[in-house]
Amino acid sequence: MSHDFPPGSVWLVGAGPGDPDLLTRKAERLLAVADIVFYDALVGSGVLALVPPGTEMVGVGKRSGRHSKDQVSINVLLAAAVLAGKRVVRLKGGDPSIFGRSTEELDHLAAHGIAVRICPGITAASAAAASGGASLTLRGLARKLTFVTAHARAGEALDLDWTALAAPDATLAVYMGRAAAAQVARELIAAGRAPDTPVMVAVNVSLPTERILRGRLSALAFLVETISDSDPSLLLIGEAVAVSPPLGQRTALVQNLNAATTG
Ligand SMILES: C[S@@+](CC[C@H](N)C(=O)[O-])C[C@H]1O[C@@H](n2cnc3c(N)ncnc32)[C@H](O)[C@@H]1O
Repeated sequence: MSHDFPPGSVWLVGAGPGDPDLLTRKAERLLAVADIVFYDALVGSGVLALVPPGTEMVGVGKRSGRHSKDQVSINVLLAAAVLAGKRVVRLKGGDPSIFGRSTEELDHLAAHGIAVRICPGITAASAAAASGGASLTLRGLARKLTFVTAHARAGEALDLDWTALAAPDATLAVYMGRAAAAQVARELIAAGRAPDTPVMVAVNVSLPTERILRGRLSALAFLVETISDSDPSLLLIGEAVAVSPPLGQRTALVQNLNAATTG
């Protein structure tokens, strides 16, 4: 059953955006046999509830500014657990490869001769698009998809290539962008992105408290005003995330498209 998870090994596992139904079957299997789970603050409580009773649970959450454990301590704890012969899961929200800050942990474990296997998860942008009934790309209109973080290191300015990000045929998925939303809108418009570009802000995606807010780029700062610091939110910007036409209209559009391509 656990051929790929012997004692003294570690998996880095993506927990998805929060809804336990959006967890991969592999992640669920690994959680079922783990001896110890180190989890981040963004991991949904429904996902944690799938871990069998008796499994050692260690919260190592980092939420902007509030660090429950520093990175060096996490690295040391992870390596010690593996070397003690435990089956270790390091559980991170979304997909661990996207703004997951896992490299330091992987490097530290590698320095101790410990190889880490990775189980991907559904990233917030995919879940947000699904909840909003939108696509992240759109034939002819959105040929590029850029994942970007608007989180700057403490004391540093947000240093992004605004000209590249303002390309009209791109969808932007801005992680950790709520606090910088006003600046993101201002810089994109200054770099040439149309002020009426559609935006969607997805809050607590896939959780019972989910909210999807829609508007235009010029009003992005107002859209995010009601979102609290503690609620994860993602900004999606671009033509692809415009309000979807009602189902009837969409069916007519597809029929027209089919007629045009076959006729
Ligand atoms: C440190 S990044 C981690 C991203 C994660 N690895 C992923 O693939 O989704 C945290 C940011 O992801 C976004 N995020 C994660 N979960 C979310 C959710 N359920 N709803 C909305 N945004 C979310 C927010 O922008 C949040 O500030």
